[in-house]
Amino acid sequence: MTEESFTTTTAGIPVESDEHSLTVGPDGPILLQDAYLIEKMAQFNRERVPERQPHAKGAGAFGHFEVTHDVSEYTKADLFQPGRTTDMLIRFSTVAGEHGSADTWRDPRGFSMKFYTTQGNYDLVGNNTPVFFMRDPMKFQDFIRSQKRRADNNLRDNDMQWDYWSLSPESAHQVTWLMGDRGIPRSWRNMDGFSSHTYMWVNDGGEKFWVRYHFKTNQGIEFLAQEEADRLAGSDGDYHTRDLWQAIERGDYPSWTLKMQIMPFEDAKTYRFNPFDITKTISQKDYPLIEVGTMTLDRNPNDYHTQIEQAAFSPSNMVPGIGPSPDKMLLGRLFSYADAQRHRIGANYNELPVNAPQSPVHSYSKDGQMRHHNPGDPVYAPNSKGGPRADTERFGEPAGWQTNGDMVRAAATLHSEDDDFGQPGTLIREVLDDDARDRLVSNVVGMLLNGVSEQVLLQTFGYWHKIDKNIGDRIETGVRSGQQQ
Ligand code: HEM
Repeated sequence: MTEESFTTTTAGIPVESDEHSLTVGPDGPILLQDAYLIEKMAQFNRERVPERQPHAKGAGAFGHFEVTHDVSEYTKADLFQPGRTTDMLIRFSTVAGEHGSADTWRDPRGFSMKFYTTQGNYDLVGNNTPVFFMRDPMKFQDFIRSQKRRADNNLRDNDMQWDYWSLSPESAHQVTWLMGDRGIPRSWRNMDGFSSHTYMWVNDGGEKFWVRYHFKTNQGIEFLAQEEADRLAGSDGDYHTRDLWQAIERGDYPSWTLKMQIMPFEDAKTYRFNPFDITKTISQKDYPLIEVGTMTLDRNPNDYHTQIEQAAFSPSNMVPGIGPSPDKMLLGRLFSYADAQRHRIGANYNELPVNAPQSPVHSYSKDGQMRHHNPGDPVYAPNSKGGPRADTERFGEPAGWQTNGDMVRAAATLHSEDDDFGQPGTLIREVLDDDARDRLVSNVVGMLLNGVSEQVLLQTFGYWHKIDKNIGDRIETGVRSGQQQ
């Protein structure tokens, strides 16, 4: 033991014992004056912050993003300028499981990135799928509840999952992805990441573009078959967490190449799919991928709680040169994350080192729980005391679009090829091969044979028939023959 390494209380006071509480005689009652014992118990009772509502189970790593191709004609965002390298943090996750749940359950995987840019933090909170289950934030809470646990017995329930999906036709594309091979990646290193949403990029001249991000894994796409994933869920619930940690520990740094789909601003109005509908992909034949740079993960966290559990990613963290699109889901998310984080971590969560930007902060926000540094006076704007002022000339133009209309509750305008079943049908018929189609059928049948009511089965057969008649027939036949065994 060095002179400095003796145990102290959190107030720095040397403690008398790590093992024995203060008692009246060796067998006697414990004394309330044992402040260290009380501190240990009280701190322990407060160790957990609430887990994330969705995406509770996850892990992450640090790395950097390096620009390799010049895309400055599309965005002025500093992190995408030629030659730039930006530090970053990533967190991978499952959606429906709780904090200790198995990594290998079938689920979309979260793909959250925080780039510590010279102009503040840019967060891109995506998934390993290019689409999502719904297109209006009004439905998100119901969807998540249907995937988590029942109110009465706290069990997950295939009946409610398929009830929700089969009554929500817009989920068909994401469900087809999820029930196929991409629904259980072999590791986080073996999957792609997507913005899923369309965002806006703005260049130095004020020209606007609609963009989607594709992070292509350089490790190759690999998946786990259902049986293997089930076995691993029993033998190593942290399989994906361990894989990422070990790869980085041995210097086998995973990387992804960022490629963008970039649509000229005016094209959005007439494009055959609504580009602001997150249940649809934008065809790469129409808008081919444009390479931007490489993301490499090369540093494991050394303090999971402060660096990963308390990390706060929010789609509302956008930097100059990047903006939202009219995607209603995205617009809903712009509120939701920071709100969740004020509740989950505390009002001053952006002061924690993992969330603090590496660029200067000149904010008038002050005080509140756990605040450890205030900006000082003046505490208001405008002021004549030399406090920060918004630089409207440089940053005054929001990355936005023009809109008008009556206030309505309505679905977005349909584009010529918009329908809920077209793209998932194409995915089944033109992207999957015979083996992949077989596994899709077997995965769906396996779930439907496990606790799904007749009413929901009928809804679900109808749903799959609309996606693809042949696959629908095979699913129905598989379930009916399975029921007889
Ligand atoms: C209106 C729709 C949505 C709402 C209201 C919503 C809300 C939330 C909330 C409240 C959290 C927890 C945040 C926290 O506690 O730090 C979360 C986490 C997450 N969501 Fe969403 N979400 C929505 C849609 C989406 C979509 C479309 C994607 C992907 C494209 C997505 C990806 C994620 C990811 C990856 C996380 C985990 C973030 C992390 O690693 O800390 N969500 N979501």
